[in-house]
Formats: sequence, structure tokens, C-alpha cells
Amino acid sequence: MHTLLPPLIAGASEVYTDIAKCSGFGLFFRNQDAPPNEFQRMIKDSKVKPLKPLMHDLRIIKSEAEITNMRLAGKYSGRAITNAMRQQWTKEKDLAAFLDYDFKVCGCDTTAYIPVIAGGSNALSIHYVRNNDVLQDGQIVLVDAGGEYGGYITDITRSWPVNGKFSDPQRDLYEMILKVQRSSVSLCRESANMTLDKIHQITEHGLKEGLKSLGFNMNGDAMDVLFPHHVGHYVGLDVHDCPGYSRATPLKTGYCVTIEPGIYVPDDERWPAHFRGMGIRIEDSVCVQDDNPLILTTEAVKEVVDIEALRD
Ligand code: GLY
Ligand code: MN
Ligand code: MN
Repeated sequence: MHTLLPPLIAGASEVYTDIAKCSGFGLFFRNQDAPPNEFQRMIKDSKVKPLKPLMHDLRIIKSEAEITNMRLAGKYSGRAITNAMRQQWTKEKDLAAFLDYDFKVCGCDTTAYIPVIAGGSNALSIHYVRNNDVLQDGQIVLVDAGGEYGGYITDITRSWPVNGKFSDPQRDLYEMILKVQRSSVSLCRESANMTLDKIHQITEHGLKEGLKSLGFNMNGDAMDVLFPHHVGHYVGLDVHDCPGYSRATPLKTGYCVTIEPGIYVPDDERWPAHFRGMGIRIEDSVCVQDDNPLILTTEAVKEVVDIEALRD
């Protein structure tokens, strides 16, 4: 850094970096006395431009080699999640420990991000990561977990009955979300001329109609309460890849995204009694292709019959 960078910077017409040209903004007021660091001193006379947009352009479209790694990350992580569904867990932390181990056994390099292992109404906390409660017969467990392979990540959520068999209300809500999820995944192709924001709107509409048919009163802010997050994000080197890259950009071949509708029903008289306290999300990582989506996480089963058959 001391010998190589200064002549490179001095000879460059533009310097791309996300390190601020001068330091000095404290939390509340400008600290004009904060000394610039070594790099900031080197670029003080340079024309500095932001690096992030260039990095996003390089990262957003995945090459064949990157997609190969994402396919393997999805295959190995998906297998581990299906393995986890084969048995009845009594503690969130045991299930978390199994996945951490089985991602590696199945072929991943490591766990990609801090997972959510949420039994019953714990799933209503979208960023639940305590993962230390007991799991009860009759509950759904929501698992948002994925492994990393060769630097690439797939992001997966599955929700399944702790005892292996869906109750009628659990199945009704699950099947409704799954139908919408499948249809939103099918829009992840360049020929559909979609953006993540547009897929979000379509998903919201599908969930709203589905909830009405299940007897929910969808007046007022019902949708914001029941589906409080975006349907998806870019995924790749990071679980939330290319942070800040607009979700209003048309999806092109080679973009990798998640599709993750979820419904979280508060334990509150506003909602039909038999759905109260349920949280269900189904998330796949998908690679956009010209005319058909490549779903990277199919090894994690999601059809009701396939989930239930794992305990037969
Ligand atoms: N695992 C984080 C997310 O689904 O966005
Ligand atoms: Mn996600
Ligand atoms: Mn996730």
C-alpha cells in the first residue's frame, strides 16, 4: 500500500472507491480535527467516484461458473433441509445444530447466514434468531437457513409441521401460500419483463385474494400486518446481494433472486381463530433465464405430500 498505491493513484484520471475522500463526520457534528487516514491522504487531489455501482454491475449477472456454484449450494443446502424434515425435533437449538452439521456433510463449505429456527408463534418475529425455544407437537416450525459453496449462497425457507402432518388449517394456509409462491417463481424469466417490485405487487395481490377465500377480513392495513416484508431480494456472494441495487430493475438472464412470500398471523381477535399464531414462509432461490426460471433449491421439498411422505 505504501509503495504501490501512491504512484497508481497519482497517475490515475479517476479513482473509484467507497471510502470517503475526507473523514470527519462524527455522530452528531462534524469533527474537523479528525485526521484523514493514509488512504484518504493519498486520494485528496484525485477525482473520486463511487465504486459500488461498478461492483453491482459486475455482481448482478452471474456467469456460468457462478451459477454452477449456486446450483451446488442450493442442492447441498436443500438436501440438508429435507433431511431435517425427516425427524421430529423437540428443541429449536437441536434442529439448528443438525443443520449446521448437515450443510457440511451434504457438501457445503459452511452455513451461509445466521438461521431462523422458529417454532409456532416465534415465526411471527421475522428476524427471530434466538433459536432456543422448545418445539411442540402441533406447531409449524419455520426454518430459514442456507449453506455456502465456493463463496456462493442460496437462501431457503421451509415451514413444516413439527409432528410431520399438517392440521387442516395449517394445510389450508400453507397450500395457499405455496400456490402464490409457485406462480411468483414462474415470473422469474427475462421474457416476463418483470422487476422484483412488480413481482411483489403480484404476490401481494395473490396472497390477499387467497386470504379472503380463507375467511380473513382484508380491510385496512391487513396486508401490511400479515405480509410485512418484500417478496424477494438479489442473492449470490451475499445473502442480500448487491445491497442498494434497485428492485425496480427488469430481471435479466443471470440475475439470481429469492421469492419468499410469507403470512404471519398475530394472536389477535382480528383474524380467524384457527390461523392465529401461525407463521409460514416458503422461500426459494431462483436464477433468471430467458424463458424459464432455474430454481436452485428444489432439493428442499415443499409440496405437502412430499413433506408428509418423509415420515411414512
Ligand atoms: N435469510 C434472510 C432472508 O430471507 O432475506
Ligand atoms: Mn431471503
Ligand atoms: Mn431467507
